[in-house]
Amino acid sequence: MSKLRVQCFGVSLDGYGAGTDQDLQNPLGVRGPEIMEWFLATNVWKKMHGLGAGETGVDNRFAERSFENIGAWILGRNMFGPVRGPWPDDSWKGWWGDEPPYHVPVFVLTHYARAPIKMKGGTEFFFVTDGIESALDQAKNAAGERDVRLGGGVATIREYLRAGLIDELHLAMRPVLIGAGENLMSGIDLRALGYSCTESIAGERAHHVILRKATMG
Ligand SMILES: NC(=O)c1ccc[n+]([C@@H]2O[C@H](COP(=O)([O-])OP(=O)(O)OC[C@H]3O[C@@H](n4cnc5c(N)ncnc54)[C@H](OP(=O)(O)O)[C@@H]3O)[C@@H](O)[C@H]2O)c1
Repeated sequence: MSKLRVQCFGVSLDGYGAGTDQDLQNPLGVRGPEIMEWFLATNVWKKMHGLGAGETGVDNRFAERSFENIGAWILGRNMFGPVRGPWPDDSWKGWWGDEPPYHVPVFVLTHYARAPIKMKGGTEFFFVTDGIESALDQAKNAAGERDVRLGGGVATIREYLRAGLIDELHLAMRPVLIGAGENLMSGIDLRALGYSCTESIAGERAHHVILRKATMG
């Protein structure tokens, strides 16, 4: 059965998934890159950006695994870009250039309606204004037998966690302190929501943990 998966979500030791003050120069917020440093060294990332060979150990294997069997993505509007409020025009098409690394339909949660955008390589961005369940239904419909990947950012993952809708959450814990930004876990009782840690594996630059929701019955 199709699952909702969070994969390769970078988290600092103090629980942050993004730094403060996201803008065009700081897509991950100030100090955000320290959280994702492990991913930027992988062969997966380097290949994606034409940067030659990268590292091929445990971290890279998790990066590879994160793209396997994914038929659709869900993103929050801030992960899609730095534009806030009503869309001033149709010029912003994501951080990723003409050919984003998704290659499947991507459902972007926002309060501001916008027409879908077809990109090169099979990515199409759809803007969903009627909530997380609707985005999940549409994404599952598009994904068919394959899984849906919840890309982030932090606020969007927190919403899906609170609703108990995430089947599997892979966090890449980085041994850095960010101090301020978007905190992933604060105020969320994952135990009460039925999650437990089922895998814990040390990588080269991050420690990987998998949280799964127990299935009832
Ligand atoms: N650590 C990692 O691995 C990782 C991965 C991905 C992203 N990130 C980072 O995370 C940061 C973004 O996270 P974030 O917490 O700021 O924001 P986010 O989750 O990306 O987006 C939040 C926004 O999405 C829209 N939205 C969310 N739920 C909605 C709903 N139910 N209905 C309608 N609209 C909804 C709202 O936008 P509007 O109301 O404005 O439309 C809301 O302000 C970025 O810096 C990004 O680079 C980190």
